[in-house]
Amino acid sequence: MKITVVGTGYVGLVTGTCFAETGNDVTCVDIDVNKVNKLSAGQITIYEPGLEKLFERNLKEERLHFTTDLEEGISDAAVIFLALPTPPGEDGSADLSYILGVADQLGKILKDYKVIVDKSTVPVGTADKVHAAIAKHASVEFDVVSNPEFLREGVAVEDFMKPDRVVIGTQSERARKIMGDLYAPFVRQGNPVIYMDEKSAELTKYAANSFLATKISFMNEIAILCEKLGADVDMVRRGIGSDDRIGKRFLFPGIGYGGSCFPKDVQALVKSSQEAKYDFKILEAVMDVNEKQKLFLLPKIEAYFGNNLKGKHFALWGLAFKPNTDDIREAPALYIIDALTAAGATVTAFDPEAMANVKQVVGDKIKFAEHQYEALQDADALIIATEWSVFRTPDFDKIQSGLKNNTIFDGRNLFEVTRMEELGFHYESVGRQPANTKP
Ligand code: UDX
Repeated sequence: MKITVVGTGYVGLVTGTCFAETGNDVTCVDIDVNKVNKLSAGQITIYEPGLEKLFERNLKEERLHFTTDLEEGISDAAVIFLALPTPPGEDGSADLSYILGVADQLGKILKDYKVIVDKSTVPVGTADKVHAAIAKHASVEFDVVSNPEFLREGVAVEDFMKPDRVVIGTQSERARKIMGDLYAPFVRQGNPVIYMDEKSAELTKYAANSFLATKISFMNEIAILCEKLGADVDMVRRGIGSDDRIGKRFLFPGIGYGGSCFPKDVQALVKSSQEAKYDFKILEAVMDVNEKQKLFLLPKIEAYFGNNLKGKHFALWGLAFKPNTDDIREAPALYIIDALTAAGATVTAFDPEAMANVKQVVGDKIKFAEHQYEALQDADALIIATEWSVFRTPDFDKIQSGLKNNTIFDGRNLFEVTRMEELGFHYESVGRQPANTKP
């Protein structure tokens, strides 16, 4: 099938490449000339494990093309995916100007029937707005479908190629058949394609992300309670997670969720609820808990150093909002950096992928180390903000010889408390009792 993907950001590039991988002829359209030139020349513009190989192969085999010309890009496509940004406006609602701008253009250039697909996360009712924007100028038949993505950064290719489910929101039989054919190779193992109306599909995406964010904030509050009551959140997590109705995943407490999706989507759903004159109390609490959770380690660090961090030096392992990505949007590490430096402390950070991005944001405010152990030199304590695999089984001798104090504040619960006790670390984590409290 010939398809077009408008927008070559994270979602667009993964979508386009994965559709090409199943034999479709894919044209990606973007207004950014530099990006299109780079991509056409075989230079990938995002970091996502496994994507580069597929990208290179499909480019070489000429199933993947890039252009800045929308009219040329859609000319013989059966399906047009819109994978455009929907940044939060000042009031938290999603800004639809990019999507509606392209819809308006499409209306002027459509020459035959096409399926136009909203792939971006958009508020309920957007498919109707896109339909209206196209219909204003279009003289041919077309359908607008809502087909939300559920890609996780770091495993986006796997998520796309083997989705748990595909949600297709349309009331048109014609569009339903075309979308079903397009996704058939991805659900051969029996995972469902769930057909529904456009609005339900749009809400499904927000409900999924908000539910997962709720699970995390809930566990973060349980972790706080564990510390206060003398319980261990790891035990509680295992205890509740083995109930199928709850599930083992997404129960890990930490220093808050970040990234481009959860914070934005929860906020947008709260906003949509307000517009619908409904006060979504749980989600407001979820956001509130998460804001506080990003700085969860701070009071512990302050208390340990006698409420004075002036002149203290910290090693910080992990900057990305989660492992296997260089994405630092809403990353807890940025909040920690701000709080520590505001309190007069200095920081040397290490992250396997995200240092360049952080440097662009914080400049010379902190130092960066070439290696995880180099970051420890003369530090009063190590703070762990992201659970990269390379941090999970470190050389503890090297940590001890680098640090001035054998002190670790772990925001991701990477180590067993008893092990840290044996090794002689002062070790504080999330929802567990500390090891070797200061005499
Ligand atoms: C998420 C959704 O999973 C995906 O379906 C959607 O399309 C986009 O948003 P992503 O933002 O890539 O994907 O990250 P994800 O792996 O889901 O993690 C989100 C955040 O939750 C991270 O900050 C992570 O550290 C945090 N998290 C996750 C926890 O704190 N505890 C957990 O148990 C799981």
